[in-house]
Amino acid sequence: MKTEVIVVAAGAGKRLNSKVPKALVLLKGKPLIAYSLKIFEAHPGIDGVVIVGTSGFLSQFIHLTRSFKKVRAVVSGGVRRSDSVKCGLKALAPDTDIVLVHDAARHFIDRAMIDRLMAALKKNRSAIVGVPVKCTVKRIERKSLVIKETPSRDLLWEAQTPQGFHKDILLKAHARKFKEEATDDAILVERMGGKVKMVMGSYRNIKITTPEDIILAKQLLAGKG
Ligand code: CTP
Ligand code: MG
Repeated sequence: MKTEVIVVAAGAGKRLNSKVPKALVLLKGKPLIAYSLKIFEAHPGIDGVVIVGTSGFLSQFIHLTRSFKKVRAVVSGGVRRSDSVKCGLKALAPDTDIVLVHDAARHFIDRAMIDRLMAALKKNRSAIVGVPVKCTVKRIERKSLVIKETPSRDLLWEAQTPQGFHKDILLKAHARKFKEEATDDAILVERMGGKVKMVMGSYRNIKITTPEDIILAKQLLAGKG
């Protein structure tokens, strides 16, 4: 089974207030995206990687291909995350069977979670990593902010990336037109009525979103976490 990874890194990083795209922000002197690329490079089950980067910074993403031999293509992304994934899909090797989609903003992935994800994809056509939520989550009414519902915590998991799919399913999911923003790929498969298996990710696998996350990431990297 040929497996390729699409690493989406074409977001603006607005909530981080950074001048460079989030994926190129340096952490201990290394661009954020390099941490994930290193894990995929070393994983024997991964055959190739496609980077979807911000159009104005493509040369910096291309520069990374010097250190990571599995990176086969660097393409520019689109307006929404799902548009960027679509750009990545077009650049996959034609004989790819399994596609993992990963946010460059999650640089704390590890080999074990990729193993768990790939094992799940042997029995399921779609699977994602995630973690059980630690907090009590409320659903509110948009205007009034009044709580409408408290879903049972035991059934709530936070979705992370990587998310894995047999290629045909992912292509089909992305081919459908949708208006609502899709913050991950699983949601597109769910909307088609497809089954998506959840497997354990890790609580370290945080998404760098706001400046506080950079502070936290530095502490985790320093082993203080
Ligand atoms: N992403 C992308 N193309 C987009 C939007 C997002 O490739 N048009 C990627 C981001 O680079 C990131 C991942 O999707 O790796 C998750 O998105 P998010 O955390 O929202 O990152 P940004 O969109 O960059 O941040 P912000 O929403 O604060 O602008
Ligand atoms: Mg975003």
